[in-house]
Amino acid sequence: MTRKIVSTGRGGAGKSTFVALIARCLNPPTLLIDLDPDLSLADMLGADFRKEKKRTVSEALYDVIEIRRRGANVSIPTHELMESLLWSDCLYEDVGFDLITLGTKLTEGCYCPPDELLRRTIPKLARSYTNVVVDSPAGVEHLNRNIVSDIDDLFVICDPSEKSLKHIGRIKEIMKQVGVRYNHFYLVANYEFDEETEEYLRNSGEVYLGKIDYDADLEQYNLKGKSLLELPEDSPAFLSIKRILTKTSYG
Ligand SMILES: Nc1ncnc2c1ncn2[C@@H]1O[C@H](COP(=O)(O)OP(=O)(O)O)[C@@H](O)[C@H]1O
Ligand SMILES: [Mg+2]
Repeated sequence: MTRKIVSTGRGGAGKSTFVALIARCLNPPTLLIDLDPDLSLADMLGADFRKEKKRTVSEALYDVIEIRRRGANVSIPTHELMESLLWSDCLYEDVGFDLITLGTKLTEGCYCPPDELLRRTIPKLARSYTNVVVDSPAGVEHLNRNIVSDIDDLFVICDPSEKSLKHIGRIKEIMKQVGVRYNHFYLVANYEFDEETEEYLRNSGEVYLGKIDYDADLEQYNLKGKSLLELPEDSPAFLSIKRILTKTSYG
């Protein structure tokens, strides 16, 4: 069975960093899906799409629309064309993980066509992997898009602001409305928390897994665009992730 993991939270909370670090801890094969249009996860993992001649899902979809406009390949359904492009053009393969990225919006304000295709194709892609980890864009809008509806583990990466705490309730509300099912709802504190603010999460009534420690090296790696795969095993953030995972069934 494929395990579906989602990292969510507010902008800048540390969602992509969390995904990049847990990708190193999971049993391969792991598929990472980046739903954030800024492609930061690829950068964090040193995945050079251009060099490997790989494309985002939006770019591939654009081609499919063009093919349709020209009236070519009409006997092949759009989702089948897209599925074959996903495998051949969009799947970036590395040693410990594969990665696909959604890319920028095709039409201003509308993710619908790529979402629909991802909803159809992700379950098929996922079958070949032990783990699928989704890195979300900021906010809750992506939950409305319902791309992954059966989640095993939802990790909410929190920052210590009032808004972040309200955000936890909002996520639960939206998931209920949209009908996203999950087995575990986990809270993780980002590096900005202190003892006092951590108490909020401990008393939240949700499962609180602990804090990711501040890591000066990680900050530098991200600033310089160096891959987090090269971050030493004993770096504070990586040790925090390992400690956090021992509190889940991964441990
Ligand atoms: N443990 C940490 N220590 C220091 N800086 C961190 C840590 N985790 C994340 N950051 C920094 O916080 C910023 C936001 O992280 P990122 O993972 O991109 O957030 P998100 O994906 O939620 O927008 C990045 O500049 C990153 O370097
Ligand atoms: Mg991000």
